[in-house]
Amino acid sequence: MNVVTKDWVAIGDLSDIPRQGARVVKTDAGCIAVFRTVNDEVYALDDRCPHKGGPLSNGIVHGSSVTCPLHNWVFDLATGLAQGADEGAVLTTPAKVESGKILLAVDALASRAAG
Ligand code: FES
Repeated sequence: MNVVTKDWVAIGDLSDIPRQGARVVKTDAGCIAVFRTVNDEVYALDDRCPHKGGPLSNGIVHGSSVTCPLHNWVFDLATGLAQGADEGAVLTTPAKVESGKILLAVDALASRAAG
């Protein structure tokens, strides 16, 4: 069961996701890919590449970027912006880790579901 605090919702433990891996969280606003970097930072982005809808959760995490598995576009995990010559952006959701739990911003999820 998810624990809801005032502004954040816990979606699991940091240890649930391997370093440089991702896990998909289903929300009313669609699937969100939650990534863990080699430095134990977490980022949450839509699990849908803006190019042709590739599953970013299956991409390769390197540094604070992810490479889409379909056509190798690279996105900055913090901003969601495509890197290099490619243009586009993935919607991001604020994410953080507290006491080993991964938390996503409820407001961001709610506004996406509404929009
Ligand atoms: S679908 Fe992601 S790069 Fe083409």
